[in-house]
Amino acid sequence: MNSKVTIFDHPLIQHKLSILRDENTGTKEFRELISEISMLMCYEATRDLPLEDVVIKTPMATMTAKKIAGRKLALVPILRAGCGMLDAMLRMVPSAKVGHIGLYRDEVTHKPVEYYNKLPGDVDERDVFVLDPMLATGGSAADAISIIKRSNPRSIRFLCIIAAPEGIEVLTKSHPDVEIYCAAKDEKLNENCYILPGLGDAGDRIYGTD
Ligand code: PRP
Ligand code: URA
Repeated sequence: MNSKVTIFDHPLIQHKLSILRDENTGTKEFRELISEISMLMCYEATRDLPLEDVVIKTPMATMTAKKIAGRKLALVPILRAGCGMLDAMLRMVPSAKVGHIGLYRDEVTHKPVEYYNKLPGDVDERDVFVLDPMLATGGSAADAISIIKRSNPRSIRFLCIIAAPEGIEVLTKSHPDVEIYCAAKDEKLNENCYILPGLGDAGDRIYGTD
């Protein structure tokens, strides 16, 4: 099976992404933009959720209306930067449960190191959206998804804001069943495995650290 990669070219997402990338964008605006882009991405990435008919009464009449067909979702941000996408996603799908996977990239090897893992107990009944703004080498996403797969979720989708071609290749090879959604596929990684042109260190820009 080949992973599907969807790049959201919606003008609002692309406009906000350009401001997000700008080195002059400060922490507060950066956080707001990550949220706004995540909300728009959530809208697109949930487009195929099945609907069911329900009978409701408006103040005027009884009608058959549509509701999401009992599909249970779980959102799993990869700490830290993935948490920047969480609130916006939860506003769109408030009934979703939330898990967290803690990974950081070793500064020398650039390989992910796991430090936290807490998933909803019923993740095997859920469709999981893994959240992380950056897909660089793909190591963090691939490891996070391997961890989640041990709990047998119904399906997994990976939502990021910027993806490097190298990361897409690693993720599609290691998890061909996982759909990838991003707002941009950038050029390449630099010698420190940062995405070019990218936006710098997403976690540092969200939390004002360096
Ligand atoms: C960043 C980012 C991803 C990872 C991507 O996290 O948020 O998790 O790097 O890189 P990769 O594709 O090469 O694995 P980082 O390790 O900087 O941790 P942080 O979110 O705590 O800042
Ligand atoms: N993590 C980031 O935050 N930025 C990159 O460019 C690569 C990994």
